[in-house]
Amino acid sequence: MGVKSWWIVPEEEAEHALPEGAGQCGLVSQLRPLVRELSAPGDLVLDPFAGWGTTLVACSVEGRRGIGIEVNPERARQARQRLKAYPGQEMLCGDARSLPLEADSVDLVLCDLPYFGTGLDTDSADPGQMYALRGYDVYLGALDEAFGAIAKVMRPGARAVIAVQNRRVDGVFVPLAWDAARVLGRHLTLGDERVHLYDRPVGGTDPLATNRSHEYLLTASK
Ligand SMILES: C[S@@+](CC[C@H](N)C(=O)[O-])C[C@H]1O[C@@H](n2cnc3c(N)ncnc32)[C@H](O)[C@@H]1O
Repeated sequence: MGVKSWWIVPEEEAEHALPEGAGQCGLVSQLRPLVRELSAPGDLVLDPFAGWGTTLVACSVEGRRGIGIEVNPERARQARQRLKAYPGQEMLCGDARSLPLEADSVDLVLCDLPYFGTGLDTDSADPGQMYALRGYDVYLGALDEAFGAIAKVMRPGARAVIAVQNRRVDGVFVPLAWDAARVLGRHLTLGDERVHLYDRPVGGTDPLATNRSHEYLLTASK
């Protein structure tokens, strides 16, 4: 029994490609195996940071009910547009820190985080937009609140898989993946991490900087 701790993520499946203008997203080809492995047909899967709805596309293809929460109204609208072709999915505009779901109702949580220190949505007036948080401690505090809310709606025994990378922000290394795992562990029981690998070019001259062509999948259960 058991699975390998790493996986080389294949190219995106052409028929599920992203809508034009979409930003950084997960891949349906990456998410479908996780949906199959960690949930059963008809299960409820939550993506609390749903972006353009890629997790929900994977859920529809695999016959799961997906619910996505996205704080940016225009992004939520674009995701709804995309999901018209994918039945059984619900995309809501809201804040992951106050989820409109019943306690113990979700069978699987699958998402990637809004990363700290990106240039996205920095001038957002929405107080829920985590991309707009400039202080790292403030950001980790928001993450703590979100993980608390997420844990509450998971049924006992449900799993969570959260994709995250360490980052360089203005040239400075920020251990986001490791800190996010620590925060997640306050609310759920951590499992082994998995690593997804991407075949990306290498550049730069700093001998301690890599091309970070991998992503951690933090796994946890309630
Ligand atoms: C990396 S993107 C997710 C992309 C998504 N996995 C996809 O493939 O389409 C993270 C998303 O989290 C959203 N976000 C930021 N703060 C949030 C919050 N408090 N609640 C819900 N969504 C939030 C951002 O607007 C962004 O769209």
